[in-house]
Amino acid sequence: MTLAAIVAHDPNLVIGKGGDLPWHYSEDLKYFKRTTMGHPIIMGRVVFEELGGNPLPGRENIVLSRSSNYDHVPTFSSFDKALEYLKEEEIVFLIGGGEIYRQFLDQCDKLFVTEIHQNYEGDTYFPEYRDEIGTTWKEIKREDHDKLSFVVYERM
Ligand SMILES: NC(=O)c1ccc[n+]([C@@H]2O[C@H](COP(=O)([O-])OP(=O)(O)OC[C@H]3O[C@@H](n4cnc5c(N)ncnc54)[C@H](OP(=O)(O)O)[C@@H]3O)[C@@H](O)[C@H]2O)c1
Repeated sequence: MTLAAIVAHDPNLVIGKGGDLPWHYSEDLKYFKRTTMGHPIIMGRVVFEELGGNPLPGRENIVLSRSSNYDHVPTFSSFDKALEYLKEEEIVFLIGGGEIYRQFLDQCDKLFVTEIHQNYEGDTYFPEYRDEIGTTWKEIKREDHDKLSFVVYERM
C-alpha cells in the first residue's frame, strides 16, 4: 500500500487556524477532490468534526480518535489498526490535521503538497520537511499557478 499525505500549507507551513482552514482556494479544493476521489482517506477526529461529522463522498472515510466512536464511519483508536483495516488498498491518503501529519509523516511514501504562496496567520502547522528535499523527498511533479503550486514528492 502507498501511504500518501495530502496537505495545503503557506510559506511558513501554516495549515489551520481556529479549527478551520485559514483560506479558501476553490482550485485547491478541486485538486484535493480529484486526487483523493475513489481512495480511502484517514483523518483526525478534529478534521472529521470540522466536516460536520459528514464523510466526504466517493471515498472511504476513516477517523482516528481515542475518545469518540461514530456509527457511520470506521473509527480507530490507533493508526496501526487503521492500516491493518486498509491493507488491501493500493493507495491511502492522510488528510490531516496537524496531529496526524506530525505523527505519521515519517511513514508516508508520497506527499501531495499545495504550496499556498500568500502568508496567513494560523495555529496549526505541517511538520518541516523541506530541509529533506533532495535527501528524503524527491520532487516528481510540479504545477505552478498564480496563487498556489501543486507539488508531488516521493520518498527516495
Ligand atoms: N491545510 C490543510 O491541508 C489541512 C488539512 C487538514 C486539516 N487542517 C487543519 O488542521 C487543524 C486540525 O488539526 P489538529 O491537529 O487540531 O487535529 P487533527 O489532527 O485533525 O485531530 C486530532 C485528534 O485526532 C485523534 N488522534 C490523534 N492522534 C491519534 C492516534 N495516534 N490514534 C488515535 N487517535 C488519534 C485525537 O482525537 P480524540 O481527541 O478524539 O482522541 C486527536 O484529538 C484544523 O485547523 C484544520 O483546518 C488543514
